[in-house]
Amino acid sequence: MMSQGAYKAEQAVGHGDNAVTAQDVTNPGMTEGAGDPNVKMKALAWMGKNKVEIVETKKPVIMEPRDVILKITGSTVCGSDLHLLHGTVVELQKGDILGHEFCGVVDEVGSAITNLQKGQRVVASFQIACGDCYYCKQKLSSQCEKTNANTIENAMYGGRTAGMFGYSHFTGGFAGGQSEYTRVPYGDVNLLPLPDDVPDEKGLFLSDVLATSWHAVVDTGVKKGDVVAIWGAGPIGQMAADFSLINGASRVIMIDSNWRLGYVQERYPHIETVDFSNLEKGESVTSTLKKMCNNRGPDISIECVAGEYAKGWAHYFEMALGLETDTSEIVNEMISSTRNFGSCGITGVYVGFTNHFNIGSLMERGIRLIGNGQAPVHLYWESLLKMVQEGKIDPLKMVSHRVKLEELDIVYDKFDKKEDRMQKVFVETKFSFPVAPGTPSLTTYKQ
Ligand SMILES: NC(=O)c1ccc[n+]([C@@H]2O[C@H](COP(=O)([O-])OP(=O)(O)OC[C@H]3O[C@@H](n4cnc5c(N)ncnc54)[C@H](O)[C@@H]3O)[C@@H](O)[C@H]2O)c1
Ligand SMILES: [Zn+2]
Ligand SMILES: [Zn+2]
Repeated sequence: MMSQGAYKAEQAVGHGDNAVTAQDVTNPGMTEGAGDPNVKMKALAWMGKNKVEIVETKKPVIMEPRDVILKITGSTVCGSDLHLLHGTVVELQKGDILGHEFCGVVDEVGSAITNLQKGQRVVASFQIACGDCYYCKQKLSSQCEKTNANTIENAMYGGRTAGMFGYSHFTGGFAGGQSEYTRVPYGDVNLLPLPDDVPDEKGLFLSDVLATSWHAVVDTGVKKGDVVAIWGAGPIGQMAADFSLINGASRVIMIDSNWRLGYVQERYPHIETVDFSNLEKGESVTSTLKKMCNNRGPDISIECVAGEYAKGWAHYFEMALGLETDTSEIVNEMISSTRNFGSCGITGVYVGFTNHFNIGSLMERGIRLIGNGQAPVHLYWESLLKMVQEGKIDPLKMVSHRVKLEELDIVYDKFDKKEDRMQKVFVETKFSFPVAPGTPSLTTYKQ
């Protein structure tokens, strides 16, 4: 309701005039001139709070000279998609196609595309950047000034992010890649060619997870010898933990509450864990971390959870009643746990405003609180691709399942409930290549 109401408000106020690409093309079957009436495709669409469905719609067409139409060979579901599913990120409309992490094969190119050819394997960045504005010139692609004209975001935040695939009208309104085809605006800058020695099962994660986790680590400032605490042992937290060690951290401690901690202990044996649902009597996360770290606390704390997940009833009700959009509990826990003059980074998604923020501890103890932002994928993806090629980083560590696009509605539900030890999935389509050796084989749910 709130999500769709916000979109109506946006329509009433009108968009800004900064965008250089069409806005609100979230499903090629729903916008005049965006779809081919003769070619159908399957896609995963948001149909209301906690409801997604596989729909049949039109294949997208080239709308602008720098467009590329991609035949999707791999996509995935992100913790961010859960915020969309739950309706916490505003301005979704029924029928919007989701998915901001995907790779594929170039199917068609617009007249202005000279660096890509039909048949080439590529991965997309989750953000849509123009390639030459103030931020794009510095490769800070997630903050491109030219691809998102949303007025509500601009008023609420005092500035806009870039447009993003499958991430509501709040970020421009672009159809996502949980589909058989996707239109990629500014395809010449938003697609990175994948070399033959990097299969889709690895290359796909350059879209988001690898760049986001790497950014969380370097932007928060992990240095050699640091003790790093990471809240949230999902895929982002796991890769941030791995990257902290690669970046010289002496210890990494992960905080979560479920089987994911067991997964971490199996696959990342050097990482320590704290189960916040099973602490020693009378202890808190903060007191536990102090004890583990010389009674001072970690040097660096990184938030890889999200503001929508309240820990106690107080914030649960404040959010339910609209008194705040995000809980401050995890951020407060990070601030009080971190050693004096240490740093805290927020990579998990926070949407708006929070109450009971511990500004006193932050100020008095000199804690540096850093919003890591939506991660600027273009800044890192070439060097991360090289690290994947050299085997320095292994994205497969976090991948639990391979599933079919046609069953993605079931997968969303399982991923949301953390059933079947499901975390990062590889979603195949009818166009996918054969399963790469050493990657999970297909799991099916429908007969
Ligand atoms: N900034 C960016 O560019 C960017 C990009 C991708 C994802 N994200 C965000 O990063 C976050 C993590 O993504 P993910 O895919 O790993 O999500 P996920 O939902 O798979 O993982 C989140 C984890 O947090 C845990 N958790 C819940 N409450 C907790 C608490 N109080 N303390 C500690 N852990 C708690 C959950 O059990 C879960 O394991 C999400 O908010 C996602 O939207 C940000
Ligand atoms: Zn994501
Ligand atoms: Zn730009």
